[in-house]
Amino acid sequence: MNLQDPDLFRNAALIGGQWLARPDMAVTNPATGAVLGELPDCTAEETLAAIASAETAMVEWRARTHAERADILMRWYTLMLENTEDLAQILTAEQGKPLSESRGEVAYGASFVRWFAEEARRINGKIIPSPTAGKKIFAMKEPVGVCAIITPWNFPIAMITRKVAPGLAAGCTMVVKPSDFTPYSALALAVLAERAGIPAGVLNILTGKPATIGATLTASPVVRKLSFTGSTRIGALLAEQCAPTLKRLSLELGGNAPFVVFDDADLDAAVEGAMQSKFRNGGQTCVCANRIIVQSGIHDAFVAALAKRVDELRVGAGTEAVDIGPMINTAAIDKINAHVADALDKGATRVTLPRDLPSHFADPVVLAGASTEMLLAEEETFGPVAPIFRFETEDEALALANGTPFGLAAYFYTRDMARAFRFGEALEFGMVGLNTGLISSEVSPFGGVKASGLGREGAQEGIEEYLETKALHFGGL
Ligand code: SIN
Repeated sequence: MNLQDPDLFRNAALIGGQWLARPDMAVTNPATGAVLGELPDCTAEETLAAIASAETAMVEWRARTHAERADILMRWYTLMLENTEDLAQILTAEQGKPLSESRGEVAYGASFVRWFAEEARRINGKIIPSPTAGKKIFAMKEPVGVCAIITPWNFPIAMITRKVAPGLAAGCTMVVKPSDFTPYSALALAVLAERAGIPAGVLNILTGKPATIGATLTASPVVRKLSFTGSTRIGALLAEQCAPTLKRLSLELGGNAPFVVFDDADLDAAVEGAMQSKFRNGGQTCVCANRIIVQSGIHDAFVAALAKRVDELRVGAGTEAVDIGPMINTAAIDKINAHVADALDKGATRVTLPRDLPSHFADPVVLAGASTEMLLAEEETFGPVAPIFRFETEDEALALANGTPFGLAAYFYTRDMARAFRFGEALEFGMVGLNTGLISSEVSPFGGVKASGLGREGAQEGIEEYLETKALHFGGL
């Protein structure tokens, strides 16, 4: 990396405003396997120290005016944009995505900081007329308290700002545990947060392995909320750990997104949408199309056009001019290979050209003839695999689309307006893209139903997750 500001690359965790360096845990570049640096594997005592400093810092932070907190968040937003190139370099080095996507993620991540800086000024309560004369009831909004934030490796910047910015705007303080694969983006954000004027202890970053830190955060009665993005299995485990202390929960968990193309769709638009939805971050997003479900009349033309586009994708290190970088680790590659092998074994046909790639990279592939018996119908592949399921009727498409315990994102392409409403309403998902493969935005509520989790991030809903409502009853008026 050739950073304009090398100070953004910190080999230290941040606890109560103190940077703690200790070379316990190496972080590697997924494209090359090269070690980027070493960080502390924070202990239970260090986690408790971070919680204590967040508790202390909250007294002063929540007392600030909404306008002051908004101004600080706006400075953080500006600093993020001013440092886009360095943040993108760090992100690509530790996560692998192409630099163009990393720059996009910095802008996406910063958009949440700006949005919640603006929302900070609109935290309003209400006055409720009392049924008894001489009384009034004030419903006031207050910060939830100290929040634990556990974030994934696929969006090392945006998943932090989408949680931290509304929390800070609301007056909460934060203990953040970024993925141990991608901690440096979080640490760079924390350097910029300090420069923006976020006081010591308000934002703490714990590096290390998840088990000890997660168990300590979830057991603490001081921590009043947990926000987690990751797998359904870990989300359920964290929820169980939070149950004895009854914390507020926001859980953004796994998906298994259907992408339905009806015969009356605009073919070019549907192919473009499938490319965007399926291959963003090499297929490593929770909202990626996992099952592409295509009506028989348009099926062959769609498969041919998609395969042509996929064969053109460039795969390589994110620092080169590529479309897909490395996968995050060998476990990810193994899962992708297992899904492809299982599908081929059960009758799917590969319609894209095979490539000979180094071991850190996955071959982007389109598979025709997918069926519900295959592993990739049940689980997120989390890689660049596009399986195509064929259907005849709308009812069949709906049953296929909803036939999953997950309910995060779904997409469909049609030019029939009546079907657009009918099918859009019948889909059991938190987010639906109609004639678009891109649904992520700071202004839109992000989150799922069923096994995909609880709560919403971004939008007006996002700040409510960090606020409690207190009813203050005034008598004798
Ligand atoms: C995710 O994959 O968890 C987030 C994707 C997004 O925000 O678009």
